[in-house]
Amino acid sequence: MSSPKIKLNNGMEIPAIGYGTWQAPEDQVATVVEHALKAGYRHIDCAWSYDNEVGVGQGIKASGILREEIFITSKLWCTYHRKVEENLDDSLKRLGTDYLDLYLIHWPCPLNPNGNHYKFPMRSNGVRDIDEEWVLKDTWKQMEEMVKKGKVKAIGVSNFSKMKLDEILPYAEIKPVVDQLELHLYNPQHKLLEYLKSHDIVPQAYSPLGSTGSPLLTDETAIQLATKYEVPVSAVLLGYLLRRNIVILPKSVTPSRIEENLRLSQDFASRVSDEDFKILDSIAVNGKQKRFIMPPWPLQLGFEDWIQKF
Ligand SMILES: NC(=O)c1ccc[n+]([C@@H]2O[C@H](COP(=O)([O-])OP(=O)(O)OC[C@H]3O[C@@H](n4cnc5c(N)ncnc54)[C@H](OP(=O)(O)O)[C@@H]3O)[C@@H](O)[C@H]2O)c1
Repeated sequence: MSSPKIKLNNGMEIPAIGYGTWQAPEDQVATVVEHALKAGYRHIDCAWSYDNEVGVGQGIKASGILREEIFITSKLWCTYHRKVEENLDDSLKRLGTDYLDLYLIHWPCPLNPNGNHYKFPMRSNGVRDIDEEWVLKDTWKQMEEMVKKGKVKAIGVSNFSKMKLDEILPYAEIKPVVDQLELHLYNPQHKLLEYLKSHDIVPQAYSPLGSTGSPLLTDETAIQLATKYEVPVSAVLLGYLLRRNIVILPKSVTPSRIEENLRLSQDFASRVSDEDFKILDSIAVNGKQKRFIMPPWPLQLGFEDWIQKF
């Protein structure tokens, strides 16, 4: 079983179903990445901050599948906005490859590179230590340099609202190819996706199942449609996003789920009626809008529904 592909604005193609690696424990990740590749995945979503890229690289190698057949993404961590190449080189070394297919700015939130912690520097008042002097367009300039040097084939962003995209787009020599966002049944982000479409930026769905301990798996409507189409609820959740031409990045460390997420999401997406799709597409607006991933960034991210904690 393989994944359909979606065209990016630089002419490359990305497999629409990728394998997510966040929270895949370092001692298991090699085995599950190898399993995912052998099951047919050709797209692995990684990040320096997940602290498991060495294992991911081992899994890729153990699969025996050629490097050029696999689409590998990693992400620049927040304490490295001033030092993009250093963070990228570390990811390349950990993954055991000399290039990435896609490199993303993980969050539009530069953190103090000389603070009191390598990942989450804090101020004495207990708030994350934002690098207030730094501007995102300068991070983007360094990202573009990585393409010119041949270390990455494409660059993009993650967790960027319209407000944050507008801080880089007017200056971009190379356009972001994707915006990786929290996207699922309860957070469909219709307005932002219209904006991405107008700039030819492909949306990628993180936490497409609602992340660990997801309440989406017990959503009444999703369960009803799962029964009707004789698929697991997970296939309804993932297939709904595929049907919207969104790249999905489900994570699982369970072999049977890894396989069914690839196969049955496509099955549901190909069979769901327009009427049932519309029902799924309006669940959030009918009162269930909810985000699950909301780190306490002490700055405005520009998402309308983000509950600011500071
Ligand atoms: N850019 C960002 O800021 C960002 C943020 C979050 C995530 N991400 C990316 O997106 C990926 C996916 O997001 P996520 O890991 O938060 O959550 P997710 O993929 O929505 O959900 C993962 C959870 O669902 C379970 N699961 C997987 N398949 C299932 C199935 N068929 N039936 C029932 N349960 C199932 C998994 O359990 P088991 O593993 O135990 O099977 C795990 O608990 C991440 O791994 C990462 O690559 C990016």
